[in-house]
Formats: sequence, structure tokens, C-alpha cells
Amino acid sequence: MTAMSNGQSGLLDGKVAVITGAASGMGLATAQRFVAEGASVVIADFNADAGEAVARELGDAARFVRCDVAIDSDVASAVALAVEAFGRLDIMFNNAGIGGAFGPITEIESDDWDATFAVLVRGVFLGTKHAARLLIDQGDGGVIINTASVAGQGGGGGPQAYSAAKAGVINLTETTAIELAPHAIRVNAICPGIIFTPLMHHGDEADAERVMAELQPYPKRGEGADIAGAALWLAGPDSAFVTGTSITVDGGISAAGTRLFGRLNGTTKLDRVVGIAHGTTGQKPTVRRLD
Ligand code: NAI
Repeated sequence: MTAMSNGQSGLLDGKVAVITGAASGMGLATAQRFVAEGASVVIADFNADAGEAVARELGDAARFVRCDVAIDSDVASAVALAVEAFGRLDIMFNNAGIGGAFGPITEIESDDWDATFAVLVRGVFLGTKHAARLLIDQGDGGVIINTASVAGQGGGGGPQAYSAAKAGVINLTETTAIELAPHAIRVNAICPGIIFTPLMHHGDEADAERVMAELQPYPKRGEGADIAGAALWLAGPDSAFVTGTSITVDGGISAAGTRLFGRLNGTTKLDRVVGIAHGTTGQKPTVRRLD
């Protein structure tokens, strides 16, 4: 039941969103959440079968358009459909993504590198470009949200092309936030950690659970709904003064940072002692055993 159909007001009542990659994973969860909060959504996805099924599930509040986010005219059509079907645009969620090129840097084909950047960076550029044109014409502001990744915040979070592309998305978010601020258009990114979507687990949920247990401090699976919640906050009125930033939604993975001191989620000898070390001052450490 949607917010509007049960008579309650939703955080996005009357708003119109385009969500790329909304046929699966976190885009799908966001489309469901936005509609539940009173928005109308355009599901823009490469995968027509899955996208049409999502639009059917969401009913009158949703339309599907087959779209390759790397193709300029496809993205322009997705934005145009928002106006045609629902009269305007308020929120653009540039979320579509793929794992992209992987393997040793000495072996990666340049075409595979380019294809990765085409979806992950060019796709965000095109979504921003076409949404911003319309939002500027409408003259009453708007919201652009980009899905980046913790992989874009440093090395070690993903393959080279994927990490570099997501770093590009974080920077593009900042530069376009500055450029579009005079039009009251807010641009922000979400940096997910390990989120249990088909892209992440490839059908092998047990292996994904094992990776998560090793890397993530917080004892909960990251779900598409967790990203939908962050997107809802960024799209809604409570983030009215937030622009040009990246929100990390990762169960503490990036907070854990360099893991030189102790192991995560496991025991180390430091779990059983407490005290103070004085370095090379010549003072003896104070140590108390806990068992
Ligand atoms: P998913 O595979 O469940 O959904 C991605 C959707 O994007 C699919 O429906 C797919 O058809 C669509 N798509 C792919 N290429 C497209 C293109 N060229 N044009 C239009 N649609 C296209 O994946 P998930 O996990 O929901 O990914 C969403 C975003 O989150 C991606 O940008 C991904 O890189 C990012 N991300 C995912 C993480 C995870 O752990 N699942 C972690 C960090 C970032």
C-alpha cells in the first residue's frame, strides 16, 4: 500500500523521480520506497524484462523505459518520460552499475576499461546533464543522487577500473554540486559498502556472508533497503542544506580502515589484556590480564 493510497502523507508526496538501474538491487528497493512515500518513478534500466516487471508491480506510480545509461539519447528519453507521464522531474537517481573490468592491470583490455567507465561515469554525467537541464528550466530546484562506492574512497575496495570510476563519481558529485547550487539543485552521492544485491553475491550468498563477516564491523547484512533509506533522506526535505557530499552506508567498513591493530570480529591477544604502553620512554607498561 502506498502512502497516498492509505491516506497518509509521504515524504515524497507529488514528487517525480527517475531511477537508473531500478530493475534490481538498491535501485529497485529505492523505487519501492519512493513510491511508498508518495512519489512517481521512472524505472530506467538496461534489463527490459526485469524493469517491466517492476513497473507492473508498482502500478500507476511507475513507468518503465529501456535505457542504456551510457547512451546520451537513451538518458534524454528517460528524463523526457518523467515529464510525459508525470508532468515534471524532482529527483534524478544515477544508480545503474556493473562490476566492470577485472584482472591484472597488465592484462585488462582497453575496451573493457572504457565500457566500465561508460556505465559508471559517463552514465552519471549523462543523467546529471539531462536532469539538470530540465530542473533548471523548471526553475524550482531539485535533487540529484549518484551511487558511488566505498571502493571509490581508496584502493582495496574493488577492481582498478571500478574503483577509479567510483572515485570519479565522488568528484563529479562535488563539481556538479557547486555548479548547480545557484539553481537550488542539490547533488550528493551514496557510498555503499557490501550490499546484498545480485551484483554483489552473484547467487552465492554464503560466500558473500563470509566476506562480510571478515570485513564489516556491524553485525547486519547491508540490504537494498538500507540504501533506499539514505536515498530517501537525500531526496527529501530533511537534507535541505546538504549538497556536494558523499554519505557512506557500509556497516562501519571504512571506519575500520587499515587493519593493523587486531583483527575484526575475531579474537586477538589484545582482547584479554588492558593497560597502558609508554613507548620507548623507559617506563614499564602497566598490564592487567582479564582472565
Ligand atoms: P544490481 O545488479 O542488483 O542492479 C543494477 C541494475 O543496473 C540492474 O538492474 C542492471 O540491469 C542495471 N544496469 C546495468 N548497466 C546498465 C546500463 N548501462 N544502463 C542501464 N541500466 C544498467 O546491482 P546493485 O548492487 O543494486 O548496484 C547499484 C549500484 O550500486 C551500482 O552503481 C553499483 O556499482 C553500486 N554499488 C553496489 C554495491 C554492492 O555491494 N552491491 C557496493 C557499492 C556500490
